[in-house]
Amino acid sequence: MDPSELMASFRDLQSYVGWNAEDADRVAGLREVVAPDLGSLVDEFYDEIPRHPQAHRVMTGGAEQVRRLKLSLRSWLDELFSGPYDEQYVRRRWLVGSRHVEIGLDPSYPNAAFSLLRAGLTASVRRRWLGESSGMWPALQSLHKLLDLDSMLVQRAYGDQYARQMQRQERLAAIGQISGSIAHELRNPLNVIKTSIYCLTHGKSITEEKRSEHLQRMDRQVDVANGVISALSDFARLPTPSPDSVAVDQVVTEVLETLTIPAGVVVVRDIARDLVVAADRQQLAIVLSNLVRNGVEAMPHGGKLAISGRADAGGVSVSVIDTGVGIKPDRLGRLTEPLYTTKARGIGLGLAITRVIVERHRGTIRFSSEVDVGTEATVWMPSGAADAQDENQRRTE
Ligand code: HEM
Repeated sequence: MDPSELMASFRDLQSYVGWNAEDADRVAGLREVVAPDLGSLVDEFYDEIPRHPQAHRVMTGGAEQVRRLKLSLRSWLDELFSGPYDEQYVRRRWLVGSRHVEIGLDPSYPNAAFSLLRAGLTASVRRRWLGESSGMWPALQSLHKLLDLDSMLVQRAYGDQYARQMQRQERLAAIGQISGSIAHELRNPLNVIKTSIYCLTHGKSITEEKRSEHLQRMDRQVDVANGVISALSDFARLPTPSPDSVAVDQVVTEVLETLTIPAGVVVVRDIARDLVVAADRQQLAIVLSNLVRNGVEAMPHGGKLAISGRADAGGVSVSVIDTGVGIKPDRLGRLTEPLYTTKARGIGLGLAITRVIVERHRGTIRFSSEVDVGTEATVWMPSGAADAQDENQRRTE
């Protein structure tokens, strides 16, 4: 829980219910009024719990715990009337709420208990009020506002805890999914390698040609496994981009040199040599590698891969268009989702990484596709000159 964020939201709730300094004064004025009844109120509070099994089940510490809790509730009540309603107060109230989440108390019971406290305190004020009756209602109103605010903090603690639990579950689910995909993606090449090793070690009179065939196959499978691992490490350690003025055409050249473009794929480029973009060079290479690799993999029987770049709306657009299998419309929106893939092979991280990089460069990525016609992936990023110059300027200052 971020204390300053919690305090800010408490301040907002205070203004929402119209809480102000007069309210605090009026509540402080009630302290002496209700003091004689606080002991019995606390007793009634804990006498009520055993009547509700779903609530009582969290009371695991017997009479000693009840004795201790009565003291805790008493000091909780003292602080309710004395304040100050500052960051420490809010943090302690939130922690009490969080404690009830930890013990597994259903959130509706603290609500019910607050209602019991409100009724008991109200009755006590009405019974013992000595001042002008006209002064009693505003005082009670202030007390009710404060009880509402405290109850909101307890509910907030439940909400924060549930959000954390959800996050943990989502993370565990994602880890489960990732490790499942990794296991699947690595098991395939390992099995192929194992088969080749078996053939090489147990095969009778293996020809030189057969041997080199197995070795090449193993080499390819090692590349596949490496591809899976680098996709993961790219995702895991994607540093904050350090943008510079980068010539798009040069990066495309480097990418095409590192990737294996099958013979059946014709690459056509249309990028001006002086087209520059404000980007982290290494990360731009990851973006273009993933788009080119996807384009190539979409054309198992060969085809044309067109890579073009142009100045566009104060930035630079780079498109990678393939004449491959295409993607169904209902899948287009999910392409950059981590672990989502339309391919038989692949871990589904490439485009997720691409999106993260593009968005960190304040860019956009979009896809259009037609089944059996092809797919176009277009990345837009802010242009290089201005930003890079500012950046370089900033670096030299
Ligand atoms: C107005 C609502 C409530 C208030 C203001 C309140 C207040 C407190 C306070 C101040 C503590 C001590 C927290 C700590 O040591 O960190 C506490 C703990 C506890 N409360 Fe409540 N409580 C409320 C409702 C309930 C209800 C409805 C139940 C059960 C049905 C309950 C059961 C417990 C238990 C079991 C603990 C002890 C946890 C431990 O072992 O540390 N509380 N409560």
